[in-house]
Amino acid sequence: PRFLLNESWAANHLKPRGPDSHKGTYGHVAVLAGSSGKTGAAILTCLGALRGGAGLVTLICPKSLNHIFETTLTEAMTFPLEEETDIQSLSYQAFDKIISFCRDKKAVAIGPGFGIHRETFELVHRLVAHLDIPAVIDADAITALAGEVFHLRRAQAPRILTPHPGELARLLDISKEKIQENRLEIARLAAKETESIVVLKGAATVVASPDGREAVNYSGNPGLATGGTGDVLTGLITALLAQGYEPFIAASLGVYLHGLSADILAKRKGPFGFVAKEVAETLPNAIKEIM
Ligand code: APR
Ligand code: MG
Repeated sequence: PRFLLNESWAANHLKPRGPDSHKGTYGHVAVLAGSSGKTGAAILTCLGALRGGAGLVTLICPKSLNHIFETTLTEAMTFPLEEETDIQSLSYQAFDKIISFCRDKKAVAIGPGFGIHRETFELVHRLVAHLDIPAVIDADAITALAGEVFHLRRAQAPRILTPHPGELARLLDISKEKIQENRLEIARLAAKETESIVVLKGAATVVASPDGREAVNYSGNPGLATGGTGDVLTGLITALLAQGYEPFIAASLGVYLHGLSADILAKRKGPFGFVAKEVAETLPNAIKEIM
């Protein structure tokens, strides 16, 4: 069953908040992102989660970068961990601490700017298989899984992959051109192969579930083609998971709201030149528009 992600679909799926709800109702999101030179990716993922309505957000980060996040992220908390000092990225040595930290969290985002060192890739492999909460896997974490999708098949909880065509090409070892020629069919194949929900990004983002559900997005515009907007989407989908949306709905609603936020910005500011942070900041307006 294939459907279009449009305003009426989103309005039918967005849940209103009960007046007596509290931040515990909306879940605690953990974010594993950021490394030296890519701290912005972590910040944008956290902003996407906060603007997407997560009850609480904690960024798990390399200790040497903690001060940057403490000063930039007012509303998020941090959980600093010892790193491989020469790479300023987390490595498999952090595995046990991450697993125990995530035990009482609702959902986790892994990957934006996470680093591409072998030690970090090994950490990703283990986390993908063993974290027992729903996870959104993006960017460097997708790269870490290239040729290693069996880790995903061993997963203990739902996984949502959010590749752009280049990342999916690497993951499945097929060409980007072939992906773009047949986006829906390739996303469907990727979902089966990884036993995960696959969000194939780009103009008309496709969401495919291994159970056969498929959706094509009708919001968004080329103003989104700027660094960091993908990181905001990752945080947003993770926040929706933490709020209790079923994974395929969380992925689809996230994709629609992210695009709608960009459509509002295109009208308000101009067709391009708005930045990723503004896409996050405009999410409440997008929510308001469909409520
Ligand atoms: N129309 C609609 N949406 C678009 C369009 C378009 N023409 N172009 C891009 N987008 C949307 C995508 O659907 C996606 O949601 O913008 C977002 C871009 O996400 P990414 O490609 O992941 O880019 P981003 O992560 O922000 O870029 C920073 O991280 O993932 C790596 O390789 C990537 O170097 C890049 C870096
Ligand atoms: Mg990206």
